Amino acid sequence: MMLDTSDKTDLKKLFQHSKENENALTIEATVDTGLEWQAIDECKEKITSNLQVKKDRGKIYFNITLDDFPKVLQLRSIDNIYIVAGVHYSEFDSLDNEESLSTLKKIVHISSELDKCLRAWKNVVSFPGKIHPTFEEYRDALEPYKVTRQAHKERQDNIEKGKKKRGCLPSLACHTSVLSYRVTCERNGSHSFKSGEAAYAIGGEIQDTYNWIVDLTSYQLEVLCRIKNDEVILNLRVTSESLHRRNITHFGPTTLRATVCYNLLRLAKPKLGEIIIDPMCGGGSIPIEAALDFSNIYILGGDNNAKAIERSRLNFAALSKMYKSDLIQWSAGNIPFKDSYVDVFITDMPFGKRMGSMSDNRVLYKQHILEMARVLRLNHGRLILLTYDRRSISLAIQATKDLFHVKKTLNVNIGGLNAVVYVLQRTNFEYEKFKGLFRTFISD
Ligand SMILES: C[S@@+](CC[C@H](N)C(=O)[O-])C[C@H]1O[C@@H](n2cnc3c(N)ncnc32)[C@H](O)[C@@H]1O
Repeated sequence: MMLDTSDKTDLKKLFQHSKENENALTIEATVDTGLEWQAIDECKEKITSNLQVKKDRGKIYFNITLDDFPKVLQLRSIDNIYIVAGVHYSEFDSLDNEESLSTLKKIVHISSELDKCLRAWKNVVSFPGKIHPTFEEYRDALEPYKVTRQAHKERQDNIEKGKKKRGCLPSLACHTSVLSYRVTCERNGSHSFKSGEAAYAIGGEIQDTYNWIVDLTSYQLEVLCRIKNDEVILNLRVTSESLHRRNITHFGPTTLRATVCYNLLRLAKPKLGEIIIDPMCGGGSIPIEAALDFSNIYILGGDNNAKAIERSRLNFAALSKMYKSDLIQWSAGNIPFKDSYVDVFITDMPFGKRMGSMSDNRVLYKQHILEMARVLRLNHGRLILLTYDRRSISLAIQATKDLFHVKKTLNVNIGGLNAVVYVLQRTNFEYEKFKGLFRTFISD
């Protein structure tokens, strides 16, 4: 059943459904704002077509059965995964500071499914230790914890060299370990309490109830409390770092997140045997994600910068398996292919000061889009463009409107920056005819 996404209480209903079923969980997955529907499509395709789902800004919520958790971990479009352990609505406006904090403490018990969700979390992250220690076990564990904490951290740093991890890997604990945790609070709206006070109140209540060890840096479990106006969501973090950090070892100035690459590729709907090109591939993020996710397509990356091509080559070489893809140094304004030949161009355009100036973009975008229109297959070829320079791209698309149908325009926010994604499909208007009609415009 697809729930109405406009109603904020949908999440409450979704959570209520999972609460009523011992075998069900509500999951929160974060995704770059504007790409939520791509993530929902992937979830439906890979988990179940009748997934119960609620879309929020930069997040999606859905219910799964416990057996489906491995499928959630395999998703390519999402960044962070949480198990929703509690959902509560309270009119904080009418409560003073003390009443609000006391309400937050109560949420740990009412409106929450902590025990069931903790069992699922323990299983998913392979934490071998105790989630229900006695007070004596907690007390006895405190001193040894301080000693082993540093050793754990060093072991983890060795395993996960160079990776930015939150907390400590729960799987590195032993079966006698008492769970360590921290509570963080992300808050939106006006409240009589500060985020830190909310985290402290909930954290204290959890410790009184569960006897866990508080550890603000090397915690095994992060409890994330999201408070938005009158809504409170209690989440258990599953992923210790964003899933977008997966493919790239040699970073460039504008390396695109792997999850964004995947979502762009989904918009292109690659099919068996198709030719897919990123003509301005930088360090190869898009070609690499394409190679990992779609078999039996031909992938090519091009860039006019020799260093970028070398970075792409190194990034491909660092993958655990050999993937077939070609990399060529070229100018996107002069692609060495015949007319109407390529199925998909998908690219993250140069922008801003570091990658060329906005005024250059006006000319360059038009030239690049025209060249891609020439090479794309008539009536069939797709062009997926991401850029932060909304003005230049919109002018270029307006100027070439006879050559493309605009299928979708998505306003996205990537790492705090506003960008736009265009999904264009080639019309059957021949390039030569267009060139004949608009000769002056082309040479502008
Ligand atoms: C925004 S970056 C792409 C980043 C890439 N998606 C990544 O994750 O590394 C744009 C790239 O376009 C390249 N570029 C700029 N003008 C170009 C041109 N005329 N032809 C080909 N590549 C060009 C730049 O060298 C840069 O690597």
